[in-house]
Amino acid sequence: MSEPDTKPNSRKVFIKTYGCQMNVYDSDRMADALAPHGYEPTTQMEQADLVVLNTCHIREKASEKVFSELGRLKVLRDERRAAGHEMRIGVAGCVAQAEGEEIIKRAPMVDMVFGPQAYHRLPQLLEASMKGQVIDTDFPEEDKFTHLPAARREVTLKRGLTAFLTVQEGCDKFCSFCVVPYTRGAEVSRPLAQVLEEARRLVDAGVKEITLLGQNVNAYHGLDAAGRSVGLAELCYRLAEIDGLERLRYTTSHPRDMDDALIEAHRDLSLLMPYLHLPVQSGSDRILKAMNRKHTRDEYLELIARIRSARPDLALSGDFIVGFPGETEDDFAQTLEIVREADYASAFSFKYSTRPGTPGAALENQVPEEVKVERLARLQSLLGERTSAFNASCVGRTLPVLIERKGRNPGQVGGRSPYLQAVHMDGDESLIGSIVPVDIIDVGKNSIVGKLSRDSEHNSGSLVDSHVA
Ligand code: SAH
Ligand code: SF4
Ligand code: F3S
Repeated sequence: MSEPDTKPNSRKVFIKTYGCQMNVYDSDRMADALAPHGYEPTTQMEQADLVVLNTCHIREKASEKVFSELGRLKVLRDERRAAGHEMRIGVAGCVAQAEGEEIIKRAPMVDMVFGPQAYHRLPQLLEASMKGQVIDTDFPEEDKFTHLPAARREVTLKRGLTAFLTVQEGCDKFCSFCVVPYTRGAEVSRPLAQVLEEARRLVDAGVKEITLLGQNVNAYHGLDAAGRSVGLAELCYRLAEIDGLERLRYTTSHPRDMDDALIEAHRDLSLLMPYLHLPVQSGSDRILKAMNRKHTRDEYLELIARIRSARPDLALSGDFIVGFPGETEDDFAQTLEIVREADYASAFSFKYSTRPGTPGAALENQVPEEVKVERLARLQSLLGERTSAFNASCVGRTLPVLIERKGRNPGQVGGRSPYLQAVHMDGDESLIGSIVPVDIIDVGKNSIVGKLSRDSEHNSGSLVDSHVA
């Protein structure tokens, strides 16, 4: 391992993140791993001594973005070299894991290619890359989380009031369209004590809301000190004991891992937000089977009903894929149907993208592109209507809002509702960091608009009063 640099601000790293929240978390952990070696993050790519692209392989489009970015980077690096500076280039994340050496073949200027399980070795990889190109796409024996350094307190403070915390990584489900089991490897859960310690550190540095992350977060089964396996529900109860932690979320869940204990946690724990991202992908049993989702449409709807009886105000979110091989107009109509029945507050929808190495890629009856485009447009229009209807249903309600930042204009602040809606309102920046009751008065395009509730104790302060209409 290289010695930490004695001049801490001497080098700059720029990490560009693609893909899911786990990549956002990983990018921060890479920055934390580099910090003791003298690398400070920069937001200016052209000033970076090291650029890391943290990539996503989930759909072809996401994956191809990396190569166009590498084309741009080559120009930047040549300019920096002409000015007498070095710029090392690393490709991390799921494209790195999936394509390994291919990346160097297509883009020979890349210095390092390394997968998600190698992040704790980043300083050594960087050192090795001084002597020649390095590729590390192994799934090592050791646990990377034990070896990754924690963020310094002041760094966590700067990152904001909400934080991600990966508790589970990888997937054993092998849905026939998906690359994740290949890019992230087998499902692994972090030990309970390790998760609790990281959560305490975050809260100690001012974090109010934690989102637990996993490709299948509700399959979490970390070991406790006695070697007993602990599920996500128990983890939530333990996190709820941390003083100062106000909100808890988790994502992404699989319907098959939504057990009774977790449903009860939604009933019992007020800090567990009434928002659940529970993708179904399709409303057709035939397609669900072909996707290897291992549940039916009715099982999904019954599950939603059970969760809602435990937590009636739950806002549901989901993911959908249109144009999976063999999807007929009738199958697609059933997807539209389940959207209406399950009553989503928000959702993400995608055209099926054929991914190399997945069982779906080998299926016949691939759906023509123009059919996918047309179905996606219809689905998105319905989902858009449902989201607008959900947002409109919040007008007239008073919601607790975690105020996270200054607004666009002076005298305005922004935050999130329990349902993860962005909320804009007039208010003083002294509110940042508090959860305040907000009367929802209007809907914006991708947000809702509120004003500090008259019920708010903050409302009695003159500073705040002056901003209340
Ligand atoms: N673990 C999560 C999903 C992770 S991937 C789950 O089981 O639900 C995030 C989303 O990307 C998926 O829910 C799916 O909707 C979409 N997706 C994954 N592979 C895809 C593909 N090949 N084409 C289009 N969308 C895909
Ligand atoms: Fe992919 Fe399915 Fe695993 Fe989700 S559950 S990560 S969609 S294989
Ligand atoms: Fe993409 Fe990998 Fe996340 S493929 S969605 S970055 S797990």
